[in-house]
Amino acid sequence: MRIVAGLFLWGVGTGAFQVEGSWRKDGKGSSIWDRFVHTEFRDADSTDVSSDSYTLLDKDLSALDFLGVTFYQFSISWSRLFPTGVVTAPNEKGLQYYNTLIDSLVHRNIDPVVTLYHWDLPLTLQEQYGGWKNESVIDIFNDYATFCFQTFGDRVKYWITIHNPYLIAWHGYGTGIHAPGEKGKITTVYTVGHNLIKAHAKVWHNYKKHFEPYQKGLMSIVLGSHWIEPNRSEDALDISKCQQSVERVLGWFAKPIHGDGDYPEELKNELSFLPRFTEDEKKYIKGTADFFAFSFGPNNFKPPNTLPKMGQNLSLNLREVLNWIKLEYDSPRILIAENGWFTDNLSHKSSLVYFRVLNIRLMNVNFSYAAIKYDNIDVFGYTAWSLLDGFEWQHAYNIRRGLFYVDFKSEKKERIPKSSARYYKQIIRENGFFPKESTPSLQAQFSCDFSWGITESVLKVSIKVLKRLVLSGQFSFTL
Ligand SMILES: *[C@@H]1O[C@H](CO)[C@@H](O)[C@H](O)[C@H]1NC(C)=O
Ligand SMILES: *[C@@H]1O[C@H](CO)[C@@H](O)[C@H](O)[C@H]1NC(C)=O
Ligand SMILES: *[C@@H]1O[C@H](CO)[C@@H](O)[C@H](O)[C@H]1NC(C)=O
Ligand SMILES: *[C@@H]1O[C@H](CO)[C@@H](O)[C@H](O)[C@H]1NC(C)=O
Ligand SMILES: *[C@@H]1O[C@H](CO)[C@@H](O)[C@H](O)[C@H]1NC(C)=O
Repeated sequence: MRIVAGLFLWGVGTGAFQVEGSWRKDGKGSSIWDRFVHTEFRDADSTDVSSDSYTLLDKDLSALDFLGVTFYQFSISWSRLFPTGVVTAPNEKGLQYYNTLIDSLVHRNIDPVVTLYHWDLPLTLQEQYGGWKNESVIDIFNDYATFCFQTFGDRVKYWITIHNPYLIAWHGYGTGIHAPGEKGKITTVYTVGHNLIKAHAKVWHNYKKHFEPYQKGLMSIVLGSHWIEPNRSEDALDISKCQQSVERVLGWFAKPIHGDGDYPEELKNELSFLPRFTEDEKKYIKGTADFFAFSFGPNNFKPPNTLPKMGQNLSLNLREVLNWIKLEYDSPRILIAENGWFTDNLSHKSSLVYFRVLNIRLMNVNFSYAAIKYDNIDVFGYTAWSLLDGFEWQHAYNIRRGLFYVDFKSEKKERIPKSSARYYKQIIRENGFFPKESTPSLQAQFSCDFSWGITESVLKVSIKVLKRLVLSGQFSFTL
């Protein structure tokens, strides 16, 4: 995938642990999430299979064909390639799986967007080193990354080092609701964040120096955030608290990488235990991303109590947070690397699906129409999350985020398109959207020059509908 001016890219994403299943098949090693679900989740058996993308690759490919996406964002399960995490001879079956997946995508003209680390650290590295608490893991991660560039880099032009480091540090080592499930010391949380930033920077420099010159790929790190609006809209103190809130989540990682190489001042002032970067490290970390990869979805909002809200109000305004990114980080090119909401675990025939459809529509209308057109924000692609229903981390199977429904208990695990899949397919085909089945007046098209045909009043109506649906309590949508 090349970023071409004026060409908007449409994709869909998954994380390996959410969909692959086959956790012990063909020589795969255990990851921290394998252990976590077996110790923390009562219905662990079902997570061993999930939607079984490892075995049912063809069905995933058919689902991608159905949508007509430009790219597919997926992650590599580190312990499927290297069962202990340490780079030796790769597990051949695992290697074959990713080669087949990548070849099949390239054959279809779908660009692979490959995430190296989407939370499933090889268990051995947790047990021997204490996982991301330990700086030694940085070099081991870099070795694994090197192997991936050597092996897949001829076909992969778009790399993500780490998916949402905030959630890894905060929930993995703070609240303990994510693997490895450590509840604890706030100092540990920031040490983990520190190591994740260094790991990212190291891999980026490695790629730039040794692979980019002939592989010509681009690399970033997916950063996620909530958005927050002042309780009292004109109040200067409330506004500055909102700034602090976003700096504590997004700025923690974004300022070192996309800004000046260092943590936000507010973090440095308030958190005496925050690890510090040396001047050399700041220079090394600064600018280690070729674009801004941004995640805006339920994982960044739920559970809300642990977010540093500073007494302010959570908001779903993607346009605002894109503007913040533009202003803070000097107008980067932005890939929406994860977006989408969810329904509860009812059948796909349920009317709840309408909620997803509405959401996809709103999200697209919002960021594209407003952010691109009026705010002149350089958004070049959009990743709907996710391709399939799968394992949703602390929610296990109790929420569904797929464009395709999967009956986890069934033998065949057919991928059944929800109305949101049909809707997204239409959006992609038209490079914008013309929801013929509902409001014919709601139209917006992503044409090459980003011209639009939609009126503000229609936007407002849709937002009102969403609010009513949410407020009526019909939906498992809580902030
Ligand atoms: C890192 O791992 C090494 C090897 O197991 C160990 O000796 C060291 O104490 C660990 N450091 C931390 C900070 O956990
Ligand atoms: C924020 O939420 C509070 C209730 O928690 C409400 O009173 C206030 O009006 C909200 N502020 C804005 C600007 O919506
Ligand atoms: C929001 O502001 C209102 C007054 O404007 C106040 O009563 C309320 O407690 C505030 N909410 C929070 C969460 O600070
Ligand atoms: C869309 O934008 C409007 C105003 O810009 C905002 O009020 C609304 O919350 C946004 N909706 C979503 C789903 O981002
Ligand atoms: C849906 O999730 C609830 C827990 O939130 C669970 O009790 C129920 O069995 C699930 N239903 C299905 C059909 O999976």
